[in-house]
Amino acid sequence: MLVIITDDYAELSREAARIIANAMRKKPDLRLGLATGDTQQGMYGELVRMHREAGLDFSRVVTFNLDEYIGLPAGHPQSFRSAMRKSLFDHVSIPVSHIHIPDGTLHGTPRNNFDEVCEQYEAEIRRAGGIDLQIVGIGKDGHIGFNEPTSSLASRTRPKTLMQQTIEDNRHNFPPGEEPPAVAITMGIGTILEARRILLLASGTAKAKAVALAVEGPLTASVSASALQMHRDVTALVDREAAANLQHKDYYRKALEMARKLTPGRLW
Ligand code: GLP
Repeated sequence: MLVIITDDYAELSREAARIIANAMRKKPDLRLGLATGDTQQGMYGELVRMHREAGLDFSRVVTFNLDEYIGLPAGHPQSFRSAMRKSLFDHVSIPVSHIHIPDGTLHGTPRNNFDEVCEQYEAEIRRAGGIDLQIVGIGKDGHIGFNEPTSSLASRTRPKTLMQQTIEDNRHNFPPGEEPPAVAITMGIGTILEARRILLLASGTAKAKAVALAVEGPLTASVSASALQMHRDVTALVDREAAANLQHKDYYRKALEMARKLTPGRLW
């Protein structure tokens, strides 16, 4: 895993957007996996700015979001679909038909229907030729997507019950009095690991413990993000605060410097 430690959130956002933009320039029909979270907001802001100011072209990009709440009606302002429109899709040149987000609107229908929704989602990813670059954030409990602790490391897209901590972390996005959903559809860890390249973003002290466990801890289903250690091409982009508990920070700095010298093409 390549670990890049930035001074702050602003630099992390710029660096993440730069990595995505470079991938898009290399492959204009990039299959891009996206994540919804506060962490990604600065990065989306940068991408919108690059689109406006430098003509960064999204017209051939195809996107797949990691996850979506189950039970919110279509168009609900707190759905991940709405959040993505607000932060990125409404401001760039991506055709609506290129956007894929799991459909969580089948509230109250038998689980069978969700099996179908999930299988279709996996099939769409396959039909698109797989994901070239997947962006992931990390939850305080080390989840990626909504793969809560004890999720199978081989899991596929499926409905997932959220831990109370995750529900509480999501609460600030909902108006007072409105209960955040307790279930979601998420790409599985196995699905995520099939992406050709993965970019993990983490910012702030609240993520320091999870980041250290994901990067330096043992591979375990108790920390979903530790499964990224199995992937051959992961970049962890973390700010100084989120990197606070990492043991080998000096090594990561040296390794990054060396990688930039020896394999400049690899770093987009
Ligand atoms: C949710 C999302 C994740 C995201 C995580 C952290 O659980 N499903 O994809 O990484 O929240 O979000 P934030 O960046 O807001 O801390």
